[in-house]
Amino acid sequence: MRDPAYLKRLHREPSPLLLELEQHGLRDGIPIVDRAAGRFLSVLVHSMQANRVLELGTAYGYSTLWMALALPPAGRIWTIDPDMECTEIAASYFRRAGVEERIEIINQPALEVLGSFPQRNLDIVFIDAIKSEYEDYLAVVVPMLKRSGIVVIDNLLWSGRAAAVPKPSDDEQTVAIRAFNKAFLNHPELDATIVPIGDGIGIGARVD
Ligand SMILES: C[S@@+](CC[C@H](N)C(=O)[O-])C[C@H]1O[C@@H](n2cnc3c(N)ncnc32)[C@H](O)[C@@H]1O
Repeated sequence: MRDPAYLKRLHREPSPLLLELEQHGLRDGIPIVDRAAGRFLSVLVHSMQANRVLELGTAYGYSTLWMALALPPAGRIWTIDPDMECTEIAASYFRRAGVEERIEIINQPALEVLGSFPQRNLDIVFIDAIKSEYEDYLAVVVPMLKRSGIVVIDNLLWSGRAAAVPKPSDDEQTVAIRAFNKAFLNHPELDATIVPIGDGIGIGARVD
């Protein structure tokens, strides 16, 4: 039988700073990734020795910090979020973790930045911003990945709403996630899957 509590008990606790940030986000009602998703991102960064990571949706920097703590010494993360109040809090955690030199925060809407974003050959792009813009993000970021680089996307199960029987009253985000999931899994340049970690994580490797 599946028992998520068993896996939660079995894993080591995150570092005290990650735990503090997790509590801070939860207390302030900030929608951060599930701890299991953070851990998954950390394993991906470690296993790929990912040097060049782009994130869409910083918030308090919880997912950013999971990835930053796994970067190799020369690794860098660019993270985009227009909400300066949130990203000032994120920056304070990056300073306390001693990783602020590796992270560049870009305070603009992702779609306004990505068209002229100069970085290419990215190892990982992590998408966790506006759900109705996911298809647009994907179209822009796939060409920015190195071959065998990966795009990772959060919330593809959308708290069970993606799998529910479609109704005319479904909200825009639910409709967008369902359409995105189909487009993502059939993307001609990606080998893609969705795994039930946290709220559903998509992972696609660039194979063209
Ligand atoms: C789900 S939260 C990100 C959580 C973060 N990845 C974590 O797990 O710690 C989504 C974030 O997307 C940001 N956002 C909203 N509009 C955006 C846009 N146009 N481009 C990039 N980020 C945006 C919001 O300000 C919010 O902080």
